Amino acid sequence: MPKVTYVAHDGTETQVDVPAGENVMRGALYNGVDGIVGECGGGLSCATCHCYVDDAWTDRVGGPSSAAESELLESVATELRATSRLSCQIDVTEALDGLVVHTPETQY
Ligand code: FES
Repeated sequence: MPKVTYVAHDGTETQVDVPAGENVMRGALYNGVDGIVGECGGGLSCATCHCYVDDAWTDRVGGPSSAAESELLESVATELRATSRLSCQIDVTEALDGLVVHTPETQY
């Protein structure tokens, strides 16, 4: 099962198993990882699942998966970076085994 590491704003790392077919937001929620809220449940309407994809993974993860994600990224609560993604829009696959994402200081 793919492993995803969430690095909190303070540097705390939490690695969890996330089944392929799930997304990075749900991987955090199901495992009690702080830093990802996912208020809308993945409906692309809240932006509280913002994360920064680790530099080593940006090529494999890619940029926003839709115009709607790009648009919603404009309303994230913390600095928008080139590596910003909405974690509910990152589908976990075997190819993403070992993925590292950084969670922002706040989602509000
Ligand atoms: S969970 Fe709401 S936009 Fe991702």
